[in-house]
Amino acid sequence: LSLLHKRQDLLNKRILITAAGTREPIDPVRYVGNRSSGKMGYALAETAAKRGAEVILVSGPSNLPIPQGVTIKKVETAAQMHAAVLSEFDTVDVVIKAAAVADYRPELIAEQKIKKTGDTLTINLVKNPDILRELGQQKKRQLLVGFAAETEDLITHAREKLTRKNLDMIVANDVTLPGAGFNIDTNIVKIIHKNGTIEELPQLRKQQIAEIILDKICIMLTKSI
Ligand code: CTP
Ligand code: CA
Repeated sequence: LSLLHKRQDLLNKRILITAAGTREPIDPVRYVGNRSSGKMGYALAETAAKRGAEVILVSGPSNLPIPQGVTIKKVETAAQMHAAVLSEFDTVDVVIKAAAVADYRPELIAEQKIKKTGDTLTINLVKNPDILRELGQQKKRQLLVGFAAETEDLITHAREKLTRKNLDMIVANDVTLPGAGFNIDTNIVKIIHKNGTIEELPQLRKQQIAEIILDKICIMLTKSI
């Protein structure tokens, strides 16, 4: 693996990577969140930096160490991730959106801790902006890579996202498979390209999946010159 990392095939490329889940506050002590650990996004950031890229990692809360040589921008909410990503978009060659962005946020954030006065509690949620879709609408020369974590109809859903968000490639995984999904070191993914081709990878460490995703990106970057 150390030999692999001597390849500086991403030199002079600026890559924006998003990682981990966002947290949407309910009150000063509570939030709506998800199970994303950030492992896939951090593996991508570390590997891209080792391969010579200038990496900006926009990360939701995560316990993982910040990879060496990476510029980190920590965010909490989808709105903050949206702002951080859009402020960098014009300057980058590639965006990889590995983050699990909350689709909805509480409509109102209580100023004080909510007390357990009632037998039920209703929190109204409103839709967050779809960051990747906006990038797809705005993109000029940038390559856009998305992720799709699904529990059913993996290929259909992933293909629909690739088209709807105007992506160049989407990395799809069925989170219900053992050896895939949240907070573990391996994943089982299918890589779907804009032209419709699908590559099915076996169960691999997220680090190895990162290398393969970046290999594909390198090829696309060479073609788009
Ligand atoms: N994404 C995003 N902004 C959002 C929601 C998702 O940028 N508000 C990105 C994710 O980072 C991921 C891709 O879009 O790269 C797909 O996310 P996913 O949750 O699978 O798709 P959604 O479009 O949110 O559809 P759904 O959750 O209904 O399956
Ligand atoms: Ca979603």
